[in-house]
Amino acid sequence: MSKGINRREFVHTSMAAGLAAAVPPSLHGAAPTVLIPKSLKPVVISDLSGILYKNGGPVSAVEKAFEMIVAGSDVLDALIAGVKIPELDPEETGIGYGGLSNADGVVQLDACCMHGPKRWAGGVAALEGVRTPSLVAKAVMENTDHHLLAGKGAQDFARGMGFTIEDDLNTERSRGLWLEWMRRVDPGHYLDPARRSQRGYDVGLAMVRQGLIEEHAFWGTIHCNGISPNGEIAGVTTTSGRAFKVPGRVGDSPILGAGLYVDGDIGAAGSTGRGEANLYNLCSYLIVEHMRHGMHPKDAGMEALRRIKANTIEERLLNSRGDPAFDIRFFALSARGEFAGVAMYGAREQEYAVCTENGAERLPLEGLLSGSPTD
Ligand code: GLY
Repeated sequence: MSKGINRREFVHTSMAAGLAAAVPPSLHGAAPTVLIPKSLKPVVISDLSGILYKNGGPVSAVEKAFEMIVAGSDVLDALIAGVKIPELDPEETGIGYGGLSNADGVVQLDACCMHGPKRWAGGVAALEGVRTPSLVAKAVMENTDHHLLAGKGAQDFARGMGFTIEDDLNTERSRGLWLEWMRRVDPGHYLDPARRSQRGYDVGLAMVRQGLIEEHAFWGTIHCNGISPNGEIAGVTTTSGRAFKVPGRVGDSPILGAGLYVDGDIGAAGSTGRGEANLYNLCSYLIVEHMRHGMHPKDAGMEALRRIKANTIEERLLNSRGDPAFDIRFFALSARGEFAGVAMYGAREQEYAVCTENGAERLPLEGLLSGSPTD
């Protein structure tokens, strides 16, 4: 094997050579795909970040991914090109550059991606200094035998792969919100450590209620999945994690089976919202397994929400009705091209983003519970 080409590129290139005769001339040079008769309508779905944040450009994440999928790009390449847009958008304070920092004022990012047809996966956790953790996750997938790199090791890997490492991914806005959080949490230096963590959570949520932080940005995250006309499925999830988290905290987003799960024959699912609830229940995996047994993505998502509700028993996590005092959302897509967005509280963030041949639109999230998590 020649120097400068890794094993996976070799396999990829070999596949491309084998398929070249079947590839229409317009697609020569594009990522190889297995060409089978067109039978599916391609679709890309994500949470609302995928339609709201365009980084000053003309297209949203779901539009970019959809355009690339129908043009013949590899489905995961397309999804990552999509989520890169909100990752780079300084106005999106829940993802990538300008994401809300941890409790020490340092932006630490989590991401993972899965490629259905290839059965490949990669992720990074608590990564500092790289604006696009989804691309580093993809590099882990393509260039290592591992599925997850964390902390300094993830950053060293990114540097080695040629990513620019920045000292600080805060924007003026994210730094200002961290300073405001610090001013409220720690007016006279630290509280009792046992109380500080709960106090930090409560103060953060109070800033959400006052409109200083968008609710979706407190838990960060964009999840995006999609299917190509020839039935290839992939997904990606990327986040700055819970705002003002304990340094080193890793949420659900980079964990396979939690923030994302893809089975190329069955479907994909991913999440935004309280990562700890998802980590405890591994709901993306659960949703894909329910779809494997025939459930529609919406019913599978609802089952996952019921599992979270049943396992949420600590008083500090319950509201006055005894229901979870947090929101969490799942975006599920089956290999048949059916899809759904579900939320613990459908009435709160009522919509998710979808892009089909009809263009990008916002569709209602189906809620398990009504009302607000914090009432
Ligand atoms: N779901 C994003 C997080 O909890 O980090």
